[in-house]
Amino acid sequence: MYIGKAHRYKIMNGLMRRMRIIIVHGGAWNIPEEDKESHRNSLKEALAAGWSALKGNGRALDAVEEAVVHMENSGVFHAGSGASLNSEQKVELDAAIMTGDLNLGAVAGVSCIKNPISLARYVMENSKHALIVGTGAQIFAKQQGIPLCDPDELVTARERRRFKEGLENEFGTVGAVALDGNGNMAVATSTSGTYKKMAGRVGDSPLVGCGTYADKERGACSATGHGESFMKTVAAKTACDALEKEPDAQTAAEKTLQMILKRTGGKGGFILLRKDGDYGIAFTTPAMARGVMKEGMEAPEVSV
Ligand code: GLY
Repeated sequence: MYIGKAHRYKIMNGLMRRMRIIIVHGGAWNIPEEDKESHRNSLKEALAAGWSALKGNGRALDAVEEAVVHMENSGVFHAGSGASLNSEQKVELDAAIMTGDLNLGAVAGVSCIKNPISLARYVMENSKHALIVGTGAQIFAKQQGIPLCDPDELVTARERRRFKEGLENEFGTVGAVALDGNGNMAVATSTSGTYKKMAGRVGDSPLVGCGTYADKERGACSATGHGESFMKTVAAKTACDALEKEPDAQTAAEKTLQMILKRTGGKGGFILLRKDGDYGIAFTTPAMARGVMKEGMEAPEVSV
């Protein structure tokens, strides 16, 4: 049978195009009832920002950065402008971004940067290093032309009040994973870390394989939860490896979180995306802010 040129192109294009999808989380913890509406709204906006970056020939890398920048700027989550405070009532932020090609950039312990995720991308694309911390990261930001902010600009009245009230167990990290139409994967994670952490403490989010991981041969994972437990179990890489042996991404996410709980007592959540677009969202905390937008959906789905 003769197959015309246009039809051959359509088949090739169909074979090559992958299902586009973006998943976000805004932290896994005991999210107060009065915060749930703002979480839902901000997740929808973050998904819309990420989805618009995925349109056409858009890249997964741009999509995860856009979505996380949106959540950092929202003031709703414990990242960027909504950061929780450390024991000195200061903000110290960590972030990492990674692609399925194993390109990686991360920053930790930064205090004068509104969007640590974008600085992490600069580290990935414009430096020969993978992780830069503290004042070194801020010097690098200045070199790259990224404006520094006053650290107090990142401290909200809500977080000052929560510090005084002594709220515990807040794992309000944000993250995104995406797969674009060309089959590229990316992940981004940004956080102010655990509540009342010691000054200088770094969590799992900026550590490759712990809170953030992507490998086009398996999948991509962004974690939220008790960082020390996620470091001990190299959580995000372990979840990606589980994609190889489990029947679906949901089972891989759930089993890995159960293993972490059993081995360390640490709780948290994952968004886990397999290279073919199958995905899992799981948590061992009372709640997790999460959402998804993919090919064929009319509007993003979010839950808190
Ligand atoms: N999972 C965020 C942190 O422990 O810093």
